[in-house]
Amino acid sequence: QAQDVSAGERSWNKCRACHQIGEGAKNLVGPQLNGLFGRHTGAVEGYSYSSANKGANITWDEAVFAEYIKDPKAKIPGTKMVFAGIKNDKEIADLTAFLKQFGKD
Ligand code: HEM
Repeated sequence: QAQDVSAGERSWNKCRACHQIGEGAKNLVGPQLNGLFGRHTGAVEGYSYSSANKGANITWDEAVFAEYIKDPKAKIPGTKMVFAGIKNDKEIADLTAFLKQFGKD
């Protein structure tokens, strides 16, 4: 099934109260998410992570992100991200395609 970036952008509306992405993205309630895939947990400069997230020892790839976003507290117990999760695999795939557009710079 093809990933749908524009559907992913609609799904991103669930994240943007707390996260920014793209040029000039800043840390808000949560860290900016540029270059997420390939990034280690807790790696954004100047963002004050919980020790749970900081110490999770995860490198974000598509598989681990899919597990996390389904149930953040299950994947990273103690995370301060208050988000129920996205349960639908297709929605996660589309959101992933959206996020992958934004590299480190
Ligand atoms: C952390 C993604 C929704 C608040 C994170 C991290 C990811 C992420 C990947 C870990 C970042 C890292 O290790 O550098 C998302 C996505 C969302 C979403 C894709 C929407 C589908 C939200 C919402 C909130 C939120 C709605 C606020 C209500 C946070 C906070 C952290 C975080 C506070 C830091 C956690 C900690 O240090 O324990 N998010 N998030 N996120 N997110 Fe979200």
